Amino acid sequence: MENPPTRMMERRRFLRLATTVPALAALAGLVSPLLRLLKPNVDKFRIYAPTAHDTPQGEAIVAATLSEVARPWDFKYFVFTQKYPQYTPQGFKAAVVPGVVVRLPRKIRLYDPATGRGPLAWARDIGKTPRVTDSDLVVFSRICPHLGCIFNYVPDYREITAGYGGYVPPPERRHALMGCPCHLSIYDPADPQVPGRVLSGPAPRPPRTFLFEVRGGDIVITDVEPGGIA
Ligand code: FES
Repeated sequence: MENPPTRMMERRRFLRLATTVPALAALAGLVSPLLRLLKPNVDKFRIYAPTAHDTPQGEAIVAATLSEVARPWDFKYFVFTQKYPQYTPQGFKAAVVPGVVVRLPRKIRLYDPATGRGPLAWARDIGKTPRVTDSDLVVFSRICPHLGCIFNYVPDYREITAGYGGYVPPPERRHALMGCPCHLSIYDPADPQVPGRVLSGPAPRPPRTFLFEVRGGDIVITDVEPGGIA
């Protein structure tokens, strides 16, 4: 026969269990929504990827005629209106992006259809295929990728040395360059691998580029590289 102290211990164990299980269940019920809040519900690598719905759009414009930039290092400034499909009651916000068309002395590869690579490969992110693959024309946004000033196309590199912080380009880059007056970033529009390569200064990347086509005698801008104005 079981003695009374043993029975009492079992009853206590049962009572402890009977109160602990509901308490744990209530705690789990409270904590699980909090844990859920800590788990992202979007793929972190896709948050900022442009989609068909949030890609900036613009209206095609003629930036220059071929005759206006007929010779090596000729250039022409233009302005492109880029529309952002968000943040306004109308659904669109327009931003004016100044650009520059530059005629290079030789062709460079802007897009390789076989590999999908090249300076204009960003076009595929907005569902387009660059029509121009090899060209002696390049088209840049003039908004400096450092802090957004408007930079200049400088036809004579000596003017860059004199007026943009004393940068002296190596012999193979002694040609027209682009220089930002704000913090003196210098870019090479004719770098064959990375047109607009940063040569000097704080800019973190080359200027954004435009997609363009040649229609008859016109250089027509259709899109600008997305990802922020500067
Ligand atoms: S904004 Fe152009 S270098 Fe800073």
